[in-house]
This record gives sequence, structure tokens and C-alpha cells, in this order.
Amino acid sequence: MASLQHLPCTSATSTTSATQSRRHLFAKPSHFITHAKRNNRLQISCSSDDQVNTPQGKVDRRNMLLGLGGMYGAANLISTPAASATPIQAPELDKCGVATNLNTGQQLDINCCPPTSQQIIDYRIPPVFQMKIRPSAHRVSPEYIFKYNMAIDRMKRLPKDDPRSFMQQANIHCAYCNGAYDQPGQGTLDLQVHNSWLFFPFHRWYLYFYERILGKLIGDPTFALPFWNWDNPKGMTMPPMFVDPKAAIYDDKRNQANLPPAVVDLGMTGNKDPLQVVANNLTIMYSEMIRANANVYDFMGQPYRAGTPVNPGPGSSERGSHVGIHVFVGDPRQPSGEDMGNFYSAGRDPLFYCHHANVDRMWSLWQYFLPSNKLPDKRITDPDFLNAAFLFYDENAQLVRVTVKDCLDNLRMGYDFERIDLPWLDYRPPAQTAKAKVTRTGTSASKAETVFPLKLDRIVRVLIPKTKKGKADELLVIEDIMVDTTKFLKFDVFVNDEDDNVGELDKAAYAGTYAQVPHKTNNKSATTSIRLKLTDLYDDMDVADDDTVVVTLVPRHQGEGVTIGGIKIIENPTPARP
Ligand code: C2O
Repeated sequence: MASLQHLPCTSATSTTSATQSRRHLFAKPSHFITHAKRNNRLQISCSSDDQVNTPQGKVDRRNMLLGLGGMYGAANLISTPAASATPIQAPELDKCGVATNLNTGQQLDINCCPPTSQQIIDYRIPPVFQMKIRPSAHRVSPEYIFKYNMAIDRMKRLPKDDPRSFMQQANIHCAYCNGAYDQPGQGTLDLQVHNSWLFFPFHRWYLYFYERILGKLIGDPTFALPFWNWDNPKGMTMPPMFVDPKAAIYDDKRNQANLPPAVVDLGMTGNKDPLQVVANNLTIMYSEMIRANANVYDFMGQPYRAGTPVNPGPGSSERGSHVGIHVFVGDPRQPSGEDMGNFYSAGRDPLFYCHHANVDRMWSLWQYFLPSNKLPDKRITDPDFLNAAFLFYDENAQLVRVTVKDCLDNLRMGYDFERIDLPWLDYRPPAQTAKAKVTRTGTSASKAETVFPLKLDRIVRVLIPKTKKGKADELLVIEDIMVDTTKFLKFDVFVNDEDDNVGELDKAAYAGTYAQVPHKTNNKSATTSIRLKLTDLYDDMDVADDDTVVVTLVPRHQGEGVTIGGIKIIENPTPARP
């Protein structure tokens, strides 16, 4: 099992050899719990020539640490001239409007809008003299917990109109996610940072300034936010420091049934067997980080440009583990799942930033580590992505404009993550060759053309033709997914699943997930789509030679809210280009 993650140095690639045999030998996670090795050494410098792989190639590490790399010039990043030149623009703060409540459709009585400011500065990342190391939230020292609480406490004591104060920081999320901003110059089109390729960059910048503000408030520029290591069995409970009612980082609006020792249920299957839930979680991680992604957009989210509607499509991580944690923590006693259970209030729970630090870590792992991710295209070079912009207040209460292209490398931004095992890295589900021939033994699946559009209020099975006999590299596309954005919605997708035990995800038939955190959009509904790579699934189930497969959709939400426009299997196209 790999014991290191995110090794940016070229000399360290040998440590990934264990991961090259990708079929894991263990069916149940207990093996990971007992055999997990830790390696907590900080791997900042690790080879004599000290080079770092960045999106732009190898860079001298010392220069990079000093912020002197100079490799982020626009010429390096934007490989093609702007074809469309319609990046999402930073919002106009003076036009910030009311946000809307989800369940009631009423305007929120809180005002999410930040203070305005006459002066906006284009932000430059300052030179990095010392790397901040974000620690695993389950492993922090009492000293760290004390410092962290002190910082949050001081944030809560700042004057209400200080843009760095606790509620102002929380409201950033509300304003960017609940319809308070329109896209500049695009009429009433909402600006929304979720369910698209802006998801990772927006939240990276959000945490970046949040962390700097906390550091400033305690006079410690090395202060680093903790990450909730929910992808590792040892981190699959709420981190204990957050559930001390006397702590500044406590929030009472959380699901009381999910306090420790409840095991995080990333799949929201409701399964009550903790070992099975851990196995589900690791399967989900493997699927969303590796197995289900055919290109970078499948992971990052679909293109979202100025003048186009919200929610073009979330990436595998956003709609998977990310949503799972929001829903796990949100309080069902509250009218809209506050705090974590919907977007407008999520930032009021300090646990939100800890959760998103791990989401951010997933992006970093995707970029710099995943060895089995042999995708042709791991980075988005589309100028509309790179030039998309946001506004934040920095630690000096200065309003700054930031762009996506400046946040692509967490090392250059001055922070890294504590090294923790990645037990999901080898968690490919066991092959099911002999029993996978569902299509031949006959099932109750309906033919595709008879069922669409399909209301997903129960488990549905649909017979879908494959593109070509023997063709292994295919994608399952679930298109025109009409969702009520104000509801929690989730469904899982299985291919040729013959047992009906939908509480278990650790099987080859599991193809992927759609899920969303409730949020408001202009017209309450949105159309989106997802793509799931089937290559490994075909290998594991020996169905490449069949003419059809049975696709099972299992809703995890109550009642209606999802309509599926169509399901098809297509050949894996060459990577999307701008
Ligand atoms: Cu902006 Cu986890 O949501």
C-alpha cells in the first residue's frame, strides 16, 4: 500500500510502485485499519536537484518556495489564444442582491452581501518563506486546538461590518451560492460557483484568505487550517475537537445522530454496518478519484462561461464525497438542514472549512500524485477557466481580485498537507466475471426508448445498448438530468448489478453517483449531465462483448425531484479541447 501522497519530487516516484498492481487484495477495510502505516515526515525537499513538477513543468524548488519561479506568466499558462474569451467575471459587489431561502422560496432575512469598497487590487501571491502544513484534524495537538479556537474566537469578536469577521466570512459562501450575485453584464443570469469547473478554484481561494485572516488574528503567519481526513478510515468520524460545546469551533446546528462515533456515510446509503460503510466510502473515493473519470472535466466539473446558465455539471468529487459530508453534518432539526446542509449557511459551521480543506487536498492529489490516472489531459488549459475571477477580502481587509490561473498550485500559494495514507488508492472492487451476465439471464429491465423522460422516485432498471461489441473504452452518459436545486438529491448508478443489495457499493457493478447540496437558483430547476467511464467496470465484469447492459439507478433521496432525460453509452471521445 502506498504510504505517501502528493510527492512532487521526481525522485520519489518509486514509492508509487505498490500502487501499480491496482487490484486490491482485501475485501474489507479492517485490513486497512490494522495494517495502515503512517508516514508523517514532511516531504518538502527530497532530491538533490530539487525540482518540482508543476502544471508548467519542472521548477527549481527553492525559487518556487521563494515565489520567484516566474513560471506563472500568462504566456506559459495559456497555450492557445483566447478562442472565446468569456471567462466568468468577478461579481459587482454594489449590485449584490438578496439571497433566497431554499425550502420556502422566501427571501432570507439575513443579508449575505459583503461591504463594498472603492478600491480593488489585483492580488499577487506573496513570496513563500515557510510552507504552511495543513494538519489532519484527527491528529492535531492540544496546542494546535487552542490556537485554532483562539483564532476563530477573535474572528467572532471582530466588528460585524469587518469583512474578516466570522459572519462576513460565512456570508461569502451565501452570496456566491444562493443567487445574490448576477454575472456582470449578463442580465439576470446567476453567478454560481458550484456544479462546474469553478468549484475547486473558488473554494481554494476562499480557504486561502480565511486561513490568512486566522493567522493574522493570532499573529502566526504559519497557521494552517486542519483538513478532515474523511477519505481514510481513521478520519471517518467528525473530528473530536469540533464537538466540544465549549470550543469556539463548535456549532450546535449539526446532525446529533452523526456525532462521533458515527461513521461518515459518504454514499448516504443509510447502511448501519460501520465496516460496510467504510468499504462503501473507500469504493466511492476510488471511483470518483480514479475509476469513473475519462478526462479532466469529469473530475473538475464542466465548463462554465460568462453568459451561460448555472450548473453545467459537477465533477465526480464535488457531487460525491463533497456532497456526502455536507449532508452528513447538516442538522435535520433545522428547516433547511442548516448549517452544513445547504449552501447559504454552510460557512457558519467552522467544520465547513475543515471539510473543504480535504476537498482541496483531493484536487492537489489529483494534480500531482495519482499514479494510476493515466489520462491524456489532467489540466484544463481553456482560457475561460484560467481567467475566471472572484473577489475576496484579504487578511488586511483589502478587497482583492483573484483569478483561477493563480491558484493552480497549492505549493506556490504557500501551503501543503500533512502526509496521510490513501487507502482508497488500491480499492478497486473485486471482479465479478462469472455472475455478471445479467442481460443473458433476463431481468425486468425496460428498454431505454420506453422510459424517458424518467421520474426517479424509485429504483429503475433500463436496458442500454453498447456502442460496439468488444469495444471496451466506453462512457455511460446520463443526460438532461432535471433537478430541483432546492432539494437534497442523490442517486447511484450500477451496471449489470444482479444482487439487490443497494446498501453495498463495494462491488464492480457500482459505476458512480450524482448528488447535490440544496441551493437556490433563478428558476429552481436546472439541467445537468454526468459521464461515467466504464473501462474498468467492463474489465471487472467481463461485459465488453455483450450488446447491451442493464443500468440501475438507485435514488437515495425521498420522493421526487429528479427527472432523467436519457441514458446512453458512447465511445470515449478524445479529450475535450476549448
Ligand atoms: Cu461551496 Cu461544499 O460548498
